[in-house]
Amino acid sequence: MSDAIERFDERARRAADRVGETVVRRGELLRHPVYTRMLHWLVAIFFVLALLSGFAIYSPWLFRWLAPLFGGGPRTRAFHPWFGLLFTFFFFFQFLNWFVPMTWGEADRRWLRRIKEYTSNRHGVEPEEVGFFNGGQKIYFWAIAVSALLFLVTGLLMWFDNLSGRWVVVVSYVIHDLAALVMLAGFIIHVYEGTSHQPGTFHSMIDGTVTERWAWTHHPGWYRAVTGRDPREAYERVKQRQVERDARENSRT
Ligand code: HEM
Repeated sequence: MSDAIERFDERARRAADRVGETVVRRGELLRHPVYTRMLHWLVAIFFVLALLSGFAIYSPWLFRWLAPLFGGGPRTRAFHPWFGLLFTFFFFFQFLNWFVPMTWGEADRRWLRRIKEYTSNRHGVEPEEVGFFNGGQKIYFWAIAVSALLFLVTGLLMWFDNLSGRWVVVVSYVIHDLAALVMLAGFIIHVYEGTSHQPGTFHSMIDGTVTERWAWTHHPGWYRAVTGRDPREAYERVKQRQVERDARENSRT
């Protein structure tokens, strides 16, 4: 089963590489190939469209502002399930593409225990056991996977509301709306993490690469796996250079 998925992903990655390209310069590492980036942005586009059209339907106050974006109320209602289906469709392929590096482990449990240090950026560099994704990224991924499934099942039950009992439809509304609120909170944190909290991360979803410094700072286990070099040594070297630079500048003044 997982061999078949791996073969499928490999073929998809090769096909996507024929459409776009990734240039890896000196001092950089390949983080996200074209296929991953294409899926990420397709998921993001349809997620945002589903979220905006969903909130327009959900809240009469937001309706006034959001429904005109989709051409009015009836169109917003008609488009919303399709945006949701497309979001789920593209996320399904991202799920196949990422579920191996997203596997939860002991290191992720330890990451979760020191989440306070992570959010306050106290140590600067992550412990070496942090691999391609950290525990927080994995939680976000699995929350999307569960929510996408809930959106799909409850969405279909609401869409074809004559196929099941009244209470099933009512419960579906509640679950659908709760999943949307959880996803909204996750989305806000995710955009913050992917942009201003970790400079250089956003770049990786645009042109596919990160600097080696970014890699040994945020994902040292992955840095070691792809370069064969010691992330701690790289960190100490940069720190030593900084000390020497400071000393030179102090002696000049
Ligand atoms: C529109 C604003 C968004 C920005 C700026 C953004 C940015 C990024 C970046 C830079 C990464 C790579 C992180 C890394 O390599 O470590 C990433 C990964 C990811 N993105 Fe987004 N993203 C956005 C929207 C979304 C949406 C709407 C979803 C799904 C609902 C999503 C799902 C993910 C997932 C599951 C990952 C992998 C795990 C993680 O890094 O959290 N993203 N995103």
